[in-house]
Amino acid sequence: MAKLSVNLGDRGYPIYIEPNFKRLGKACADARLSGKMLIVTDNNVQKYYCDDCVRELEGLCTEVSVHVIQAGEINKSLDTVRDIYRKLVELKADRKSVLVALGGGVTGDITGFAAATYMRGIPFIQIPTSLMAQADSSIGGKTGVDFEGCKNMVGAFYQPSLVYININALRTLPDRELKSGMAEVIKHGLIRDSDFYEYISSNIDKIYSFDENTLAYMTKMNCTIKGNVVEQDEREGGLRAILNFGHTIGHAIECVSGFTMLHGECVSVGMVGAYKLAHKMGMTDEDTVGRIEASLRKAGLPVKAQGMDADKVFDKMFSDKKVKDDKLNFVLPKGIGEVIYCTVEKEAPIREVLTELVGK
Ligand code: GLY
Repeated sequence: MAKLSVNLGDRGYPIYIEPNFKRLGKACADARLSGKMLIVTDNNVQKYYCDDCVRELEGLCTEVSVHVIQAGEINKSLDTVRDIYRKLVELKADRKSVLVALGGGVTGDITGFAAATYMRGIPFIQIPTSLMAQADSSIGGKTGVDFEGCKNMVGAFYQPSLVYININALRTLPDRELKSGMAEVIKHGLIRDSDFYEYISSNIDKIYSFDENTLAYMTKMNCTIKGNVVEQDEREGGLRAILNFGHTIGHAIECVSGFTMLHGECVSVGMVGAYKLAHKMGMTDEDTVGRIEASLRKAGLPVKAQGMDADKVFDKMFSDKKVKDDKLNFVLPKGIGEVIYCTVEKEAPIREVLTELVGK
């Protein structure tokens, strides 16, 4: 279907966008991956796609094993990583062995972190099956786990050897998770490409009915936008921070909800918060704020986190990695398709926005 590249010199890799898993073995062979393979997947994804992937990978004439983790953000922990290390030791995995992340963002982040740290680094590949992972987390090498209630607090930048996206894997995704992933897709349009944002807004029904051409185009655009940002700033020294649009408030809401709200749902509310804050600071007009809220609603995403304690969300924002010198940093929109990274020193507008977001 399509093959893109993330150009990072000797850490660069291809992204395959395919309608099935049939080219997975060839993709691994082309990447010269030939050691023992351990597929890490979760108990939901296992039943749908594990057998297909094992079959394709066994065609490489290598030993393929499977390790199943429990689904859910609550398991994105060092304990889960320790279990993967144990399995690798049991299999006598060496430095040429390959970890395969088959699943959503949680599986990808955990598996990538295990790959980054086992024997000081072994190759891994990403086979994202959720929209969240296909659109965002499988690309760019952010790996890690949550720690003591804080999202992604322990981790490493570690790039995969390839990303293999089967767009039809989205068909088995629970509706709520599909919509959650859509928040990251919309985010990419809002930060970098207003035409892409318009395309998504106008084609949301086709996307949700799994029209193959629409999904393929959407995925290609997503991966291009994400890959392009990562190529310019692999380790988030500057530009890459724009990918955190909606995340300053979003991560805090996610933590305060006790992870009962999905990541994309929180990012959706966080993006509305960023638009409201930008409006209060004279950067974006009120109509635009309304348009964004309407398109997120149309995509089935929340625009409020009703009933949450605004003070708790405010306090939680300070335990995020994005805090520097005790100041809150935001990615704020200038209309649609362009954002800037800035520090907001005044507490009042932030508290006002949070109160609007959690109110009725
Ligand atoms: N998901 C944000 C990033 O990859 O930088």
